[in-house]
Amino acid sequence: MDTDQKRMVLVVEDDASMQKVLSISMQKMGYNFAVAKNGREALDLIESGDISPDAILLDIRMPVMSGLAVLPKIRIILPTVPVIMLTAFGDLDTGLAAMKAGAFDYLVKPSSLGKIRETLQKAFSYREIVEMKAEEERRKERHRIELERKVESNYQELGDVYDKLKKMNLQTAYALAETIEAKDRYTQGHCERVRWLSSLIGKNMHLPDEEIEQLEYAALLHDIGKIGIPDSILNKEGPLDERERQIIRMHPIIGAQILSTVEFFEKAAAAVRHHHERWDGKGYPDGVEGERIDPLARIISLADTLDAMATSRPYRTALSFDEVLQEIHAMRGTQFAPDVVDIFFATDLDKMYLKKLQEEISKKKNKS
Ligand SMILES: [Fe+2]
Repeated sequence: MDTDQKRMVLVVEDDASMQKVLSISMQKMGYNFAVAKNGREALDLIESGDISPDAILLDIRMPVMSGLAVLPKIRIILPTVPVIMLTAFGDLDTGLAAMKAGAFDYLVKPSSLGKIRETLQKAFSYREIVEMKAEEERRKERHRIELERKVESNYQELGDVYDKLKKMNLQTAYALAETIEAKDRYTQGHCERVRWLSSLIGKNMHLPDEEIEQLEYAALLHDIGKIGIPDSILNKEGPLDERERQIIRMHPIIGAQILSTVEFFEKAAAAVRHHHERWDGKGYPDGVEGERIDPLARIISLADTLDAMATSRPYRTALSFDEVLQEIHAMRGTQFAPDVVDIFFATDLDKMYLKKLQEEISKKKNKS
């Protein structure tokens, strides 16, 4: 059986006798066919979805809607279906114009059965190629969308894992900070205030987000090394002797060692090691000076010292806030990096810090 027998041809022709000739031709060739009397009828048939033509024979001159008027609409609805124009003898120009507008070919009426068959078969072959190409394009597009989805979901998963890790790190850091404060009862809230103030200084210095993140961890955990210092020394009332001072001065090294066991805390570990270094090189544990001091540590150093001076410690009561600010000014370029002190005052962080401290004190009073 000829596969062409399964083909479906839509014949669009207003002339009754021509309709009859074409219908008989379709029957003889074994094609299924439908007939429409003009462009409008053809369009209605196509849009109804009742027929699915493999080719369309389209007369040019018809009432209601001509072949040339309906052709662009058909091309939009059925872009892969070849349209063969039916032109009257001596009207070749119109036939050629129709081909320019997207028709596949044209037949001059009346055409022989052989000519109609030949033209239709060419049209069917053409359509098969176009369909194959279109299917290939659709397959490629599906593949591209699938790939994009996969990449996107991988990114999403990575992002989720990263967020979880970050959350875990932060929770761990707070838990550790609480451990230090539990050991050193005078420092309650100190680690969190140092984190808060360091972060604000870093942001005002326009540090990149990743550095702010490490700065916050380092500030929160700057005294983590105190875990390794005996309570009797940490909580001793009154001044420390030389041996005790030596022991307590080990805490930046112990802290850096603890943090450096986690790769994520590498930068924070360096900052923790230097948080007691001084700009003039008279700090500890390494005695480095100026630019050789870890940049994040220079920020933590100011926040840590400021908070220590503004709150009570076992060996002394808190200074007045004016005295604290005078000290900070006086230690610009000796204990503290000049640019950090400048940013602190220039951006009103002194006022913000005092406000925060006063709020915390009044909250504590309300509780007790
Ligand atoms: Fe410290």
